[in-house]
Amino acid sequence: MDRPSPHYLWRSRWAFVLAATGSAVGLGNIWKFPYITGEYGGGAFVLLYLLCIFLIGIPLLVAEVAIGRRGRGNPMDALAHVAREGGASRHWGLLGAMAMLCGFLILCFYVVVAGWAFAYTLKMAGGSLAGSDVAAMQAIFADHNADPLQLGGWSLLVALLTLWIVGRGLQQGIERAVRWLMPGLVLLLLVLVGYAATTDGFAEGVTFLFRFDASRLNGEAFLAALGHAFFTLSLASGAIMAYGAYLPEQQSVVRTSLIVALADTAVALLAGLAIFPVIFANDMSPAAGPGLLFMSLPLAFQQMPWGQLFGALFFAMVSIAALTSAISILEGSVAWLNEQHGISRRRAAWLLGGVLVLISQLTMLSFNQGAHWTLAGMTLFDGLDYLTSRWMMPLGGILLALLVGYRLRLDLLRDELHLPRALYALWLILLRYVSPLLILLVFLHALGWLGFDPLQRWYWVAGACMALALLGECLTPGVRSLYRPAPR
Ligand code: PHE
Repeated sequence: MDRPSPHYLWRSRWAFVLAATGSAVGLGNIWKFPYITGEYGGGAFVLLYLLCIFLIGIPLLVAEVAIGRRGRGNPMDALAHVAREGGASRHWGLLGAMAMLCGFLILCFYVVVAGWAFAYTLKMAGGSLAGSDVAAMQAIFADHNADPLQLGGWSLLVALLTLWIVGRGLQQGIERAVRWLMPGLVLLLLVLVGYAATTDGFAEGVTFLFRFDASRLNGEAFLAALGHAFFTLSLASGAIMAYGAYLPEQQSVVRTSLIVALADTAVALLAGLAIFPVIFANDMSPAAGPGLLFMSLPLAFQQMPWGQLFGALFFAMVSIAALTSAISILEGSVAWLNEQHGISRRRAAWLLGGVLVLISQLTMLSFNQGAHWTLAGMTLFDGLDYLTSRWMMPLGGILLALLVGYRLRLDLLRDELHLPRALYALWLILLRYVSPLLILLVFLHALGWLGFDPLQRWYWVAGACMALALLGECLTPGVRSLYRPAPR
């Protein structure tokens, strides 16, 4: 039995696609993807990232949307409801709580990065970056971060904007914003890639992104790629599940999820194609870290006709893309306080907002006064990123895969997905064997409990996945059971 949605449903056919794309496309694509690709050496990392998107990310994205819609509630409630309906314990709702917590921790550093994008919009528009060379760009970024008032002010502004929008429940606003934002962003990225193609770093940039160098494959890069796949698709953080709850019945879960994932991947690759040629043309290091975007693209804009205008527009769009992602993170928790505890949306937003402002201001200090507050060599900013992307999201992902793959009645979500049998079986097999095993290997490696680097023996891993799938299908009333006619 489907539950009626307790709240808003997206109005138009495209609304969910737009909102979920707005959630997925954000700083992860334009800021984080290029900089970690640079740190992990390019092509091999990109390949791992794509593998993680297709083998783990998309199946989980589909699962989250389907559970959100089936459960029709905030992530905690939706999971508890679907678990019960599928014959598992309601306590699976706690997985939703963990996801919302993870989203909240992400938001605490996300607003700091979004603050950079806002500040750079102003810097570009005001022309204060004009005429700067590489060294000057680096100095400008460093100066911006050294000043807690500037950095804190921008982070605060982003946090307040997010809270204000979520508090008003402006879904229509998101729909409208994303409708012109996405095409605009892609168009500007294409202009940038066009410009990059005229620089003498283009060939090197393309080679860096797409040349597969097996010697650079290792478990560490795999861990980063896996975490990033979760981050960029907004998985295991409550966002997608919360939006899924508003998805009208007649919309296809699978088709919409695929559109979202493909749009997300395309924007990331375009951002890489725009940034790396500029890096190589200016003899910069691709491994410059989190400042990579802000130190490279302003150089490109400077050398382009209408660069000041294009640059300001570009960073404005990045800022809005960041906002639409930030909003999606809070949506689940606000809906939870609202539905479960009867707190009005506005109060819920400001309640969470108080904590958000506090932690994000502390996080912002990682770049100046608090740079020496470190744990295991990480500042608060790095620590939040590491904890969420490397641990909490993959953990949430493995638990969700196990829930859908083993605890729920296997045919429960079939009505939600409307897939041909073979594709439904493939989806289940990915969730039952491939995602959990890959995530587990990455975890064991990260903990240092695996005596070898799983990726250097990838054939071993692939073989183990297949053997496990076969064995599992023989031993359990697995996917095969779906092919038997239902008992009358
Ligand atoms: N997917 C967003 C991005 O790429 C970040 C995000 C993470 C949004 C988790 C929601 C939840 O920028």
